[in-house]
Amino acid sequence: MSDIIGGYFTSHVPAIGGAIAKGLQEDPYWKPFFDGYPPISEWLNEEKPDVAVVFYNDHGLNFFLDKMPTFAVGAADEYQNADEGWGLPVSKPFRGDAALSWHIIENLISDEFDITTCQKMLVDHAMTIPFQLAWPDREAWPVKVVPIAINTVQHPLPSAKRCLALGRSVGRALESWNSNDKIVVIGTGGLSHQLDGERAGFINADYDRFCLDHLMDDPEALVGDSIAGIVEKAGTQGVEILNWIAARGALGERALAKRAENYHIPISNTAAASLVLEAV
Ligand code: DHB
Ligand code: FE
Repeated sequence: MSDIIGGYFTSHVPAIGGAIAKGLQEDPYWKPFFDGYPPISEWLNEEKPDVAVVFYNDHGLNFFLDKMPTFAVGAADEYQNADEGWGLPVSKPFRGDAALSWHIIENLISDEFDITTCQKMLVDHAMTIPFQLAWPDREAWPVKVVPIAINTVQHPLPSAKRCLALGRSVGRALESWNSNDKIVVIGTGGLSHQLDGERAGFINADYDRFCLDHLMDDPEALVGDSIAGIVEKAGTQGVEILNWIAARGALGERALAKRAENYHIPISNTAAASLVLEAV
């Protein structure tokens, strides 16, 4: 049977990619942020997962406002990154696990989630930055991936409750996946941030703390708010917490322990956080 080792959650601010490219990990602005990642790399190097199931949001690279699926699951053998205009080096490609993707898709559809399936899919900084942080200095990514994109960009967005249910359905698919693979679940984005409008630069450390404190043992506490309520508390882009909520759902009911946690304000315009919930 496949083995779910736990969840890795992280912000995905593009400027992190610039800092990595320039080797700024020890720079005073960046150090408190990058210091959160060695324990995460250590955990992954110890556990050596074979596959990563990644809940993230596309920011206009693969899906633009003209065609925006609420939930999209990649079902390819390879995923490429491309220039998004942030001035970042284009990432090495990701190997897919199309067989696992289709198993997840079958389960989601039978659980009545009307998802979009993507046999061709570009993946953006929401996927590349978390991988660079977790597995620095690798010639090739050491895991195959199943990317699951949630619309956090163009309203109406799926509710937090629906994202938790989606994640739980993915989790059931992982539990019934007949393989010897070790699987890590990844959720990217957040925490509170707002990039535009009157509240540009808005950060809410109290709400972030609430999310970090409840995600592991009481994820239901994060799904009581409407999308408008989450935007009010977390900022327009802080709704990326939906990816974390879905990833938490995929970890199911198994016992978890906090293996790593870091919270730092700000990175660019964002309250940056990283978290590992290890299956115990
Ligand atoms: C920033 C944060 C994001 O989540 C993102 O996708 C783009 C930019 C930022 O804080 O600059
Ligand atoms: Fe983002």
